[in-house]
Amino acid sequence: MRLRRKAWAEPEILESSLFIQNPREFKGRWREVFGNDNKICLELGCGKGKFIADIAKQNPNINFVAIDLKFEVLVYVKRKCEELSLTNVRILAFDINYINEMFDKGEISDIYLNFSTPWPKAKHNKRRLTHPRILTKYFDIISDDSKIRLKTDHEVFFLDSIEYLEENGFNITYKTMDLHSENIDNILTEYEEKFLNKGMKIMYLTAELKERKN
Ligand SMILES: C[S@@+](CC[C@H](N)C(=O)[O-])C[C@H]1O[C@@H](n2cnc3c(N)ncnc32)[C@H](O)[C@@H]1O
Repeated sequence: MRLRRKAWAEPEILESSLFIQNPREFKGRWREVFGNDNKICLELGCGKGKFIADIAKQNPNINFVAIDLKFEVLVYVKRKCEELSLTNVRILAFDINYINEMFDKGEISDIYLNFSTPWPKAKHNKRRLTHPRILTKYFDIISDDSKIRLKTDHEVFFLDSIEYLEENGFNITYKTMDLHSENIDNILTEYEEKFLNKGMKIMYLTAELKERKN
């Protein structure tokens, strides 16, 4: 996603109580941040936050953490969540590659990967948010009954992600090559709306941990 720099975005987001500036400090203590024992789910690469705002509104008894790299998109997440007066969302500007510096073992329930960058060139595959290199980090922070939910428009990324997951401790419990032809509850993301308007098919899977061998 190419974005023009918006000098106002950083000061606006830093003022928000939804934004956590120093997430490493809360490793193992995220329940204190939310002030309850509800489960905590992550959207990794949340973009402008339509999905996280909608899902958090529909599920007030689940906590959500929205993570992206850029203040320029996160400022829109902040605005959407504040407009809806959501108290069950927190927003982080952080590189997902360091996810296990922010969350402790078993601290996280479901992980949503919505339209992650597909990195189609072989030399860039390692940057994928489903690459085995990073799956081991998810493996560490999720609880045994967690689900990973992935949506994408990119077939090669989808099929490779299935392989990565199956070879690295996860079972694929559901998959479809055309989510919108199925009768499944679904919350649209910004990218999904864009791809649907172009008539593209959206692929979707859920994955769960195989039994852990510790
Ligand atoms: C294609 S956009 C999808 C946005 C949104 N999930 C949607 O479906 O509309 C991918 C997003 O992932 C973010 N992203 C990619 N790699 C990341 C990383 N390593 N850490 C944090 N965010 C990342 C990008 O900044 C971008 O906003």
